[in-house]
Amino acid sequence: MKKLINLTVNDEHHEVWTSPHKTLLEVLREDLQLTGTKHGCELGECGACTVIIDGEPLLSCLVLPSEVEGCQIETVEGLAQHGKPHPLQKSFVELGAAQCGYCTPGMLMSTKALIESEDDLDPQKIREALSGNLCRCTGYAKIIEAVEKASLNINRPLKLVMVEARELKVASRTGTLLGSMSKVMGETQYADDLSLPRMLYCRILRSTHPHAKISAIDTSRALKRKGVLAVITGKDLPIPYGILPVSQDEEALCVEKVRMVGDPVAAVAALDEETAEAALEDIRVEYEPLPTVMSVQEGLAETDAQIHEYADQGNIHKFVSLGFGDMEEGFSEADHIREDIFHYEGNTHMPMEQHAAVAQ
Ligand code: FES
Ligand code: FES
Repeated sequence: MKKLINLTVNDEHHEVWTSPHKTLLEVLREDLQLTGTKHGCELGECGACTVIIDGEPLLSCLVLPSEVEGCQIETVEGLAQHGKPHPLQKSFVELGAAQCGYCTPGMLMSTKALIESEDDLDPQKIREALSGNLCRCTGYAKIIEAVEKASLNINRPLKLVMVEARELKVASRTGTLLGSMSKVMGETQYADDLSLPRMLYCRILRSTHPHAKISAIDTSRALKRKGVLAVITGKDLPIPYGILPVSQDEEALCVEKVRMVGDPVAAVAALDEETAEAALEDIRVEYEPLPTVMSVQEGLAETDAQIHEYADQGNIHKFVSLGFGDMEEGFSEADHIREDIFHYEGNTHMPMEQHAAVAQ
């Protein structure tokens, strides 16, 4: 059941019919198409969704719209006045403080609130104000410099530590980063910001087993749910995983068996994200659990648990040898040599941006 909400965003009044459980972040992005406010963790951890509410920087992913009816909400789209960028936006561009730009709207809103509320600004106060805003790629030094520089340019008396703008070298030239003005204006569109006419939303059902045979999948209930247009399984998608297969037996959606918790088993396409998510609960998968391998050592040892079934190498799906230059010469010239086995976490890169894809 939708509910009518009255919001004032960037001095404009909006009447929005929306689902009562939606966060302010979702209403701004999905109902008002103000996609400048970014969708990061949705858990209050990253600061990408920061907006200003009655002068206070707040995380819009943790705010319900009904809590802020009657408040003044400011987003990055309201920073520029009559097409003129705010001093913060200008200095972020000039100092190259927006690399991918995904964290930038949140950074700008946190520091705008700071500049407007604090006369006696110094780098420590800027660091504290930005302590809830994470940046994965620019690094914080340029961002703090940009805030200091902007605060000097704002037309009000501030007691500030003077900083010289650092000359930015890009491929041995001085300049700003490509596309940074649209990033600081909140205009750059990332995959998760794109919306096409009559777009459907997809959600993936993932395995809860580390290793199991798929005996049956029943999608009939999910298909009957209002708003669901398609449910597919591995049998409907007989292709190997295309872009970057981690192993040669990987499939876009698992067919015979799952090899890890999180393996994709079925996909739902629906009119909205909420329906697609709910339909996952309607899919019934019967698994037959198989012996598991819980460490590299177990996988390498003689085991009944055949995660991969390559004829000649069992569970080992890939041998990789990396060497650069003349290694023998390098070792012969080295002052010290340490031989050991090194283990490291299986980390993936940690973008602030959501993993998302749009297909037409
Ligand atoms: Fe709100 Fe990360 S803190 S999206
Ligand atoms: Fe901060 Fe990329 S510029 S996350």
